[in-house]
Amino acid sequence: MRLDKLLANMGYGSRKEAKQLLKGGGVLVNGVPAKDGKQHIEPESDHITVNGERIEYKEYIYLMMNKPPGVLSATEDKYDETVIDLLEFEDAVYQPFPVGRLDKDTEGLMLITNDGQLSHSLLSPKKHVPKTYYAKIAGKVTEADILTFKRGVKLDDGYVTKPGDLEILLSEENSEILLTIMEGKFHQVKRMFEAVGKHVTYLKRVSMGSLKLDESLSLGEYRELTDEEVKLLKSFNNI
Ligand code: URA
Repeated sequence: MRLDKLLANMGYGSRKEAKQLLKGGGVLVNGVPAKDGKQHIEPESDHITVNGERIEYKEYIYLMMNKPPGVLSATEDKYDETVIDLLEFEDAVYQPFPVGRLDKDTEGLMLITNDGQLSHSLLSPKKHVPKTYYAKIAGKVTEADILTFKRGVKLDDGYVTKPGDLEILLSEENSEILLTIMEGKFHQVKRMFEAVGKHVTYLKRVSMGSLKLDESLSLGEYRELTDEEVKLLKSFNNI
């Protein structure tokens, strides 16, 4: 890879700006000042520093965020804050994007990556990746709802969902549940409950495929996936 491309990729400005940086002598490759952006480097093995700081190159970044309510699961928006706006500069330079959508008011597990293949695979309807949601429901969720969800629910537009696995955690006037679904239709969880005459008052995604929300992350916080989590997620999806 060309040195100026690496510098640009890692957020040190455009190629032109990288040129300036090189001219100033701030870039060392294996301890030797580099002047020419065309210089070929091995990003994984060469020791490259910019103004004394080591550049650690990686092609892909995998982040898990506990999405807060009020923030959009999009890369940019004119009016609202997005999950990408919450990233540190050093993570944003990888140009990651959120994998799939959560409603503005939904919280919880949001995978953010620049790995298009993994994202595509997780979202592919053919892969039937399970997603589990914790929800609070206005209304008493019953055994009958478990059966209805297992059979598939007819939504407001006539679409019949694939079987959903409903677990009741609390069955009172305000219920608490876990629902696992294999698809991701628009507002699906909310619409499934509307179909049985109940209303979701709080929604949080807790898992996606093999990936579980790290409950130590507070709302808006994120961390990199461990190598093990990435490996599991990929093998879960046969990548
Ligand atoms: N189902 C919904 O209704 N909303 C979400 O954000 C995710 C699933």
